[in-house]
Amino acid sequence: MTVLPLALSAFLSAPRIIAPGEVSQTTQPTLRLFAEVEEAAARLEVNGQPAGSCEGGGKREKVLHCSAPLEPGENVVELSSAGGTAKVLVRRYVTTGPIVPGVDLFGFGPGTVHRAEVEKQCARCHPMDEAKDKAKDERLSGSECVRCHAPLTERPKQHGPVGQAACLLCHDPSSAPQRYAVKWPIQETCFYCHFEIKKAMDTKAYRHGPAAAGRCTTCHDPHGSDQPFWLKKHPYDLCTNCHTEKRSGRHVIVGFVYGDSHPLRGRPHPIKRDVEFACPSCHNPHAAQARYLWQFDVTVREKLCRTCHAK
Ligand code: HEC
Ligand code: HEC
Ligand code: HEC
Ligand code: HEC
Ligand code: HEC
Ligand code: HEC
Ligand code: HEC
Ligand code: HEC
Repeated sequence: MTVLPLALSAFLSAPRIIAPGEVSQTTQPTLRLFAEVEEAAARLEVNGQPAGSCEGGGKREKVLHCSAPLEPGENVVELSSAGGTAKVLVRRYVTTGPIVPGVDLFGFGPGTVHRAEVEKQCARCHPMDEAKDKAKDERLSGSECVRCHAPLTERPKQHGPVGQAACLLCHDPSSAPQRYAVKWPIQETCFYCHFEIKKAMDTKAYRHGPAAAGRCTTCHDPHGSDQPFWLKKHPYDLCTNCHTEKRSGRHVIVGFVYGDSHPLRGRPHPIKRDVEFACPSCHNPHAAQARYLWQFDVTVREKLCRTCHAK
């Protein structure tokens, strides 16, 4: 920590946080924060604990670029320097977890970077208008847009259009006051390409709660993940995050002679190659023809069993 003589610190002003705004929200595990400071020695705290780090100086001049890990729920983020402290509130929600009070599910919420008054300040050093006059399917590879978003765009495995850096297929550069909005409900963004899922949702007899609500990103990360089908978690953890009672490990017990439950994960899928057997092996996560959302469009329990257990 730098200790300044009192006489000097009296002339310094507190850091001024440029982004995020006083109250903001995210689904990301890491916050990025930008602030103007008069001297580079600054301290970052999340919920009262030292966390994260900042870079400033050099070509960044007096604009600190900080990042800090966020806890699910409310995070009070404080940036202190000799001149004082600046503070913002960031709500992080995990889409399969309980809803965090105050979070606006309809969008990104107010308070991030792509608003005119903030972009103006970044534009001193970064091109902020690379989407201008570009076609919806234009590839933004090599742009600063993709460089600034490296945490999303440099993942080892990426969902098709993200791998192509075709951000504008899903993000509308002309939305206001916040740029780069996605359509709501989010399924409208997905159905642009995944019409087979739309067809299933429209025509099958039963639909699964979160998919019927149109919130595909409850379960899928739209930019890609290291799970199959770009899921946000391992399928078993994903399902039992909401259906917590199934963590007891006892499920599909009628008719069992050996053991007291059907296995629920960790075996090879008997009829699909290279797939791990888990909840979605028996249940369709989107829509199905039976109330219990059985796979393979079966409506009779025994037929479900026989799909994998031939005799
Ligand atoms: C005074 C110039 C300056 C301003 C103003 C500025 N930046 Fe930067 N920024 C830089 C420099 C220099 C780098 C490092 C570039 C490099 O390493 O090639 C950088 C890097 C970044 C990165 C890449 C990650 C990192 O930290 O290296 C992001 C993201 C970023 N800036 C966002 C912003 C945002 C958002 C704003 C506006 C709130 C902003 N910057 C304002 C100079 C600035
Ligand atoms: C100077 C760096 C920089 C550039 C250039 C930039 N962004 Fe961002 N953008 C950010 C930061 C920082 C955030 C805040 C969220 C975060 O940390 O990821 C953000 C947020 C977003 C969001 C989330 C919505 C929101 O408002 O919070 C989207 C979508 C987005 N950017 C898309 C783009 C696209 C598309 C481009 C290029 C056409 C682009 N950005 C260019 C730094 C940048
Ligand atoms: C297939 C559609 C799709 C493409 C392509 C796409 N995104 Fe997104 N992006 C989304 C959706 C949907 C969300 C909202 C996330 C949610 O609800 O969990 C989002 C959220 C974001 C966010 C905010 C993350 C957060 O939770 O704070 C950023 C930043 C972002 N996108 C940047 C980009 C950039 C940069 C590109 C291009 C390299 C890109 N996206 C391409 C669909 C897409
Ligand atoms: C611009 C077209 C486009 C849009 C929009 C789009 N996708 Fe995709 N998606 C693809 C392509 C192409 C693939 C195949 C390559 C791959 O797996 O990345 C794919 C693959 C997938 C897969 C894996 C399928 C498999 O069989 O492995 C999932 C899951 C998925 N997308 C979900 C989504 C969700 C959720 C959204 C909305 C947020 C969305 N997609 C929006 C083009 C799109
Ligand atoms: C409850 C979590 C959940 C929700 C919500 C959800 N999905 Fe899925 N999705 C999954 C799982 C799990 C799989 C893998 C299924 C399997 O293993 O057969 C999957 C598979 C997929 C696939 C590839 C395989 C296929 O069935 O074609 C696509 C494409 C897809 N989802 C798109 C979507 C779209 C679009 C939405 C929004 C309407 C959506 N998903 C909503 C959990 C979900
Ligand atoms: C975000 C929370 C959430 C996630 C994640 C989730 N579900 Fe659900 N599920 C629901 C809700 C809400 C319902 C509707 C409850 C009702 O109608 O009783 C439901 C209903 C069901 C039903 C029908 C229950 C009935 O009694 O008719 C089945 C089966 C099911 N889910 C299986 C799954 C599987 C398998 C997964 C993982 C791929 C999963 N769910 C992931 C929230 C979730
Ligand atoms: C071997 C196939 C199979 C697997 C694997 C499976 N289920 Fe089921 N599930 C069923 C059947 C069959 C039913 C109808 C009730 C019964 O016969 O036990 C059912 C019913 C349900 C129901 C609605 C009724 C109830 O019991 O609450 C939910 C919710 C559900 N399953 C969730 C899950 C989740 C979550 C997983 C993973 C942890 C899972 N299932 C794994 C076959 C399966
Ligand atoms: C998606 C495929 C699939 C479906 C559908 C399915 N099972 Fe299974 N079942 C498995 C797998 C995988 C195992 C574990 C086998 C192993 O590890 O050798 C298993 C094991 C069993 C076992 C333990 C004895 C054995 O063969 O190892 C019984 C009993 C069983 N299943 C009954 C059922 C019943 C009853 C149903 C219908 C409600 C059903 N299964 C539906 C895949 C399935």
